[in-house]
Amino acid sequence: MTNQVEREIETAGGSVGVRAERRGALAIWTIDRPDRRNALSRSVVRELGRLAREGAKDPTLRAVIVTGAGDQAFCAGADLKERQGMVEEEVRDFLSLYRVSLRDLDRLPVPVIAAIDGVAFGGGLELALACDLRIASRTSQLGLTETSLGIIPGAGGTQRLTRELGPARAKELILFARRLSAEEALAYGIVQRLAAPEQRALDAAIEWAQPLLTGAPIAISAALTAIDAAADQPLEEGLSIERLCYERTLASKDRLEALAAFAHKRKPVFKGE
Ligand code: COA
Repeated sequence: MTNQVEREIETAGGSVGVRAERRGALAIWTIDRPDRRNALSRSVVRELGRLAREGAKDPTLRAVIVTGAGDQAFCAGADLKERQGMVEEEVRDFLSLYRVSLRDLDRLPVPVIAAIDGVAFGGGLELALACDLRIASRTSQLGLTETSLGIIPGAGGTQRLTRELGPARAKELILFARRLSAEEALAYGIVQRLAAPEQRALDAAIEWAQPLLTGAPIAISAALTAIDAAADQPLEEGLSIERLCYERTLASKDRLEALAAFAHKRKPVFKGE
């Protein structure tokens, strides 16, 4: 990351192009540029990173949904109109900004769900891949389409898609710039669920997230960390990380609450302690 990008991020404020909403313990971050199919401008990427860093410090946050305004697009990728005016160095800086913001979204200690209504192409799918889980409406389309524009996925797509699907499937999708239907994306395992027919993915995601809002926060966060380690670490390292994550749950009051609730045949009330 360049120092310039660091500085840009530190001084970033406002919510240009992203609407942040709170519904109790759930945050909903909506890219709000439907006239540009929710394309990722610099200010949108910067704002998503800022929200992720702020969310990581918020002990009352239990889950996040990232979505796009309207039903045409989750996100049509990089803002190609903004990109047209950029010189090479500016594109490089933009890619660094992408990497930092998506890394911070990826590292959020609470589950992040991408609710995909409409297209998720290029950087839009890369954004969804930086989330923990994805749900799409039946009419959505998804693809890492960058090679059709003479570039490659530059916001983590070659790495995150390959970790999700394995190299052969990632090559098939990226080299051919394939646009998958929602059903195909489900069959490939890119999305984990489809909304009901006629249902918006956002509404389906809100329903889906409910157990995460009442679940044991320390256990959910520890499980996320341990699972993510499996993609990055050799087995022995991963097992050590799992052990450390287990320790966090062992020391929690929530674990004792779950045992007490089981003994008294009642539902546990988790406080994240
Ligand atoms: N960046 C900037 N503007 C975009 C955009 C993008 N990635 N994608 C769409 N838009 C704009 C269009 O230019 C158009 O603006 P205009 O009304 O000023 O002409 C508006 O959004 C609507 O797009 P349009 O193509 O008319 O809508 P559509 O519903 O027929 O198709 C897409 C939507 C997303 C399928 C199509 O626009 C598309 O293929 N976009 C490029 C997607 C892509 O390859 N992304 C990868 C980038 S790395």
